[in-house]
Amino acid sequence: MVRIAVLVSGGGTNLQALIDAVNEGSINGEIVFVGSNRMKAYGLERARLNGIEAMCIKDEALLIDKLTELKVDLVVLAGYLAILSENFINHFENRIMNIHPSLIPSFCGKGFYGLKVHEAVLARGVKVTGATVHYVDEGTDTGTIILQKPVMVEEGDTAEVLQRRVMEQAEWIILPKAIDMLANN
Ligand code: GRF
Repeated sequence: MVRIAVLVSGGGTNLQALIDAVNEGSINGEIVFVGSNRMKAYGLERARLNGIEAMCIKDEALLIDKLTELKVDLVVLAGYLAILSENFINHFENRIMNIHPSLIPSFCGKGFYGLKVHEAVLARGVKVTGATVHYVDEGTDTGTIILQKPVMVEEGDTAEVLQRRVMEQAEWIILPKAIDMLANN
């Protein structure tokens, strides 16, 4: 049973998808901790509502200690916007997953997060976008790709509408699936 920690900075809809997947038994794992760099991240509230230990930890050394103390096997970045140091990456080498709301290597890297990704997609006029789950290495969105899922861009899409579609049709599906693949490898 893989022990999962999820790091969030915002609403936590990807975290909610993981909580639901664990509760349905479609992830052979347990979410043992949810952390955030933002005290008001609703993702922390989602954790608390589901009886999961949740904490705002801004100090990375404390975060490493907490995750180590809880014997976490996998760290999942789900809308986590703080930069992780090389020390953190090395400490959890090949055990950190991230969900990015585009088909990497398009629309990723520094400055491409949240709505900015979808605004760039619409500005470029691509007809297909999607989401990617990848391992985290010392770069930005450069780690090994695990799963991807395409999503059609539709006429008249706003960035908000497109973001929601990418979440519903891709992120909330491939993130739980990638974790279960690892849990059962
Ligand atoms: C969203 O833009 C999502 O695509 C990305 O992080 C942002 C927040 O997602 N992964 P969440 O609702 O906090 O999971």
